[in-house]
Amino acid sequence: MERTFLMVKPDGVQRGLVGRIVSRFEDKGFKLVAGKFMQISEEQAKRHYAEHEGKPFFGELVEFITSGPVFAMVWEGDDVIALSRIVMGKTKVTEALPGTIRGDFAAHTPFNLIHGSDGPESAAREIANFFTEAEQLDYDKAVARWI
Ligand code: TYD
Ligand code: MG
Repeated sequence: MERTFLMVKPDGVQRGLVGRIVSRFEDKGFKLVAGKFMQISEEQAKRHYAEHEGKPFFGELVEFITSGPVFAMVWEGDDVIALSRIVMGKTKVTEALPGTIRGDFAAHTPFNLIHGSDGPESAAREIANFFTEAEQLDYDKAVARWI
């Protein structure tokens, strides 16, 4: 069982897509274990995107992700890291296929609506950057046996 960090970016919040984006992961059968509607600080944003420091788009990315509230989440499930990236669609909106969140709703990179961890190490680091252990809740999911 894996956990991943997912976050509706400011464009998704401002466009009123939080509910529909969350629904995609509920529909897939994953389990929500933490959620927070919040404003990210510049320091937190730089830690979150540390792997991209020095790249040409880094400044714009930090400015974008701190430009308004985000909806940060932790989700749990088998292979949730890889599967949620499939649900999200490709990073570049010109490559994101219909049926994915980015393919259906995003029209300009980097305004691609959703962040998702790309591996177990980044998931652990990103979760810790946003949530305490106590904020990640354990509960029984009635359908967990079937999906
Ligand atoms: P990245 O981690 O590569 O993509 P993803 O969000 O799919 O994990 O990049 C982080 C964000 O940076 C990405 O969502 C959009 C932006 N970005 C650009 O603006 N230009 C680029 O060439 C890349 C690779 C990313
Ligand atoms: Mg990434």
